[in-house]
Amino acid sequence: MATNETGKLKLMQGSRIIGWGAALPDKVITNQDFEGRLETNDAWITERTGIKERRYGGTTSSLAVEAAQKAIASAGLAPEDIGMLILSTTTPDKTVPATSSTVQAELGLSCGAFDLNAACAGFVYALVVGHNMIQSGLKNVLVIGSDTLSRITDQEDRATAVLFADGAGAVVLQASEDNAVLGWDLGVDGSLVPILYCEHGGYMRMEGREVFKRAVLAMVDSAHLALGRAGLTPDDIALVVPHQANIRIIEAANRRLGIPMERTSIVLDTTGNTSSGSIPLALAAAADKGALHPGDNVLFCGFGAGMTWASAVVRWDI
Ligand code: COA
Repeated sequence: MATNETGKLKLMQGSRIIGWGAALPDKVITNQDFEGRLETNDAWITERTGIKERRYGGTTSSLAVEAAQKAIASAGLAPEDIGMLILSTTTPDKTVPATSSTVQAELGLSCGAFDLNAACAGFVYALVVGHNMIQSGLKNVLVIGSDTLSRITDQEDRATAVLFADGAGAVVLQASEDNAVLGWDLGVDGSLVPILYCEHGGYMRMEGREVFKRAVLAMVDSAHLALGRAGLTPDDIALVVPHQANIRIIEAANRRLGIPMERTSIVLDTTGNTSSGSIPLALAAAADKGALHPGDNVLFCGFGAGMTWASAVVRWDI
């Protein structure tokens, strides 16, 4: 039961996803809503990002709780069955304590809980950590991605205001003799902190073009590494669930990977970039509409501030 340092899995006990859930705030902000107060318009935002609307509201913990309750119910479990909670977030409700403490109490869990921050790659980081905790003996791990980026977005900055938003998603991982987490890759290039960051009490600051370029490269390299470790090729992937930052980033990465957009889950047109929430929201949307079938290989692929990246290949096994 071990992983070597490259992330190639050699296991006795593995894990699989057995439930999922999502949560979005009620308040819809359309592209037109920005037109009156910023020098921007629906056509520019749609063409350059693919985003048409996004949601603002709630707190990181309230969205996390809603998504997690759905995930636990869809897994057919009760709160006492959960052996660990990992909350991926880059917008904690408080500096201290971790937001996972609030979520743990509101869900009625009695297990350990901690926050993990790897920005927009955080959900996949958390998924891999959860999987490894199951390899260490846990039975059920709740993995949540939740962010309220609207709180740290400068509404006067047209380059970021139109992108970032709020949302959450969750999955339950369960121990399985037939491992479904087939390969993964986690990485960071800390020299790229200056291209995307937020100081305490400040707003997100971004060099958009640089982030765009690096994101495509990181997604493609990381996806290839995770696929290689899974012993699979892009042709084996039934569905890509990428970080929902910009449709052009996803299209560019898919082109390089040789995966058509039809095999890709997209929700960013209605959610914007919800950071940790984005990948589990896109997974939940696909699962809710029956787009995933037992045996399907799913490629999760994220990138974010740090600059972080993370990919995982998971066989859908529900
Ligand atoms: N509406 C209208 N014009 C805008 C605008 C908006 N909302 N935002 C930026 N512009 C302007 C710029 O000011 C610039 O104007 P200038 O030429 O007069 O200086 C022009 O559009 C082109 O800017 P540029 O940054 O080169 O555009 P772009 O095609 O790269 O698109 C982003 C900008 C932000 C959409 C794009 O770079 C992007 O998505 N980058 C990645 C961001 C990201 O995903 N961050 C999160 C990572 S987790």
